Parts: sequence; structure tokens; C-alpha cells
Amino acid sequence: MSNTMVAETSLRPETIARETPKMDLLTAIRGRRAVRAYTNQTVDRRTIERLLDAAVEAPSAMGLEPWAFVVLEGRDRLRRFSDDVKDGLRRGEGESSPHLREMLADPSFNIFYGAPALVIVCATSRQTQAAEDCCLAAQNFMLAAHAEGLATCPIGLSRVWLNQPATKLRLGIPGEYVPVFPVILGHPAERPASHGRLAPAVLWR
Ligand SMILES: Cc1cc2nc3c(=O)[nH]c(=O)nc-3n(C[C@H](O)[C@H](O)[C@H](O)COP(=O)(O)O)c2cc1C
Repeated sequence: MSNTMVAETSLRPETIARETPKMDLLTAIRGRRAVRAYTNQTVDRRTIERLLDAAVEAPSAMGLEPWAFVVLEGRDRLRRFSDDVKDGLRRGEGESSPHLREMLADPSFNIFYGAPALVIVCATSRQTQAAEDCCLAAQNFMLAAHAEGLATCPIGLSRVWLNQPATKLRLGIPGEYVPVFPVILGHPAERPASHGRLAPAVLWR
């Protein structure tokens, strides 16, 4: 496993203050929403490190912790990347639907919604349950961000583009990393209400 990003991110759980957010867990779970409008305010690296500190508390199959985090900062930079992702999607790389095609046709549609940062949870091994571990880390990250008054939204639309060798080369993402869960982070400019949830099938056997 490459340590490239680990060295760069300087996650230091022992030195990062474990500030306890003033929000109980169920309030955070019920209040988190996918936010698609952001203010111009950036999020400092120390805050991002604190959120990553919460991310890596996620359960991990066999305790392997097969994750790494690539952080892309800069609203304008992300806007340019959005155009590249949209070009790829228009060429048929990745998912498609009439609704998505309509969105892609809109030049003002930014798949990163003007957020100042994109955090990409990457699997660092092809071990069978690495992706599950990364998704659990991403959920911790999103809940911790919400508890701090920040906002997030998973951006699955960017995943195919992020996994292309040319993109990884351009962004300095090690070839063996597999971008699994990209999530934008920023200060919310909207407070969306929950769409609610369907009652799930629960089979008591
Ligand atoms: C794996 C995954 C990928 C997603 N990809 C996108 C995306 O590319 N763009 C987007 O706007 N929202 C994306 N979302 C957000 C969902 O649309 C959102 O979570 C869902 O509508 C429920 O809304 P809520 O998170 O506010 O409860 C994604 C969510 C997940 C879990």
C-alpha cells in the first residue's frame, strides 16, 4: 500500500483536538441533508482534518482501514473539473438518464454546486470489502460535518471521471487508489428539508 497521501494529509489524531460537537447523534442523522448550494466561505484544513479524524473511526473489515482521502480545494478549480466530468458524461462515460442529459445540457450546471472542497474517499486496496469501509468512513465524515454546521453532498457523478487513469495522473492520485466516494464540503447556503423516507421492508423471520 502506498503511503503517499497518508504522508501528505498529516492526520494526527493525537494532536487534533477531539472537539465534541454539540449535537446528539440522532439529531445529526436526522438533520443531515445533501446540500447543493454553498456560500463563498472556505473550510480550513484543520477542520477538514478533524472531520477525517471522525471518518476513520468507522468500522473496517478485519481492521484493515483500506482508505485514503484526497482533498481537492478551490471552487473555481472544481468548476473547471465539473466541465470535464460533464464532457465525459455527454460522451457516454458513466450513467445516463433523460433527466441527467437535461442537466448536462445546462451550461450553468456545476456538478460540485460551487462547494470549496471535494473530499474523495479512496480504497487503497482491492480487498473485497474495501469499498464498504470507505462508504462507512464517508458517512462518518458527512455526519461530523453536519454536526459542525457544515454541509456535504455525495457526488457519485464524478466517480467515473475520478477513476480514469488520465484524471488520477493529473490530480496526483496514486494509480492503486480507487476513488469510491467523492463528497463535497462547504458552508451551506440552503437548508433543504428532508424528502422523508419510505418505510423499508423489514422481514422478521
Ligand atoms: C452514492 C451516492 C451518490 C450520490 N451522487 C450524487 C450526485 O452525483 N449528485 C447529487 O446532487 N447528489 C448525489 N447524491 C445525493 C442523493 O441524491 C441524496 O442523498 C438523496 O437524494 C437523499 O437526500 P438527502 O441526502 O438530503 O437525504 C448521492 C448520494 C449517494 C448515496
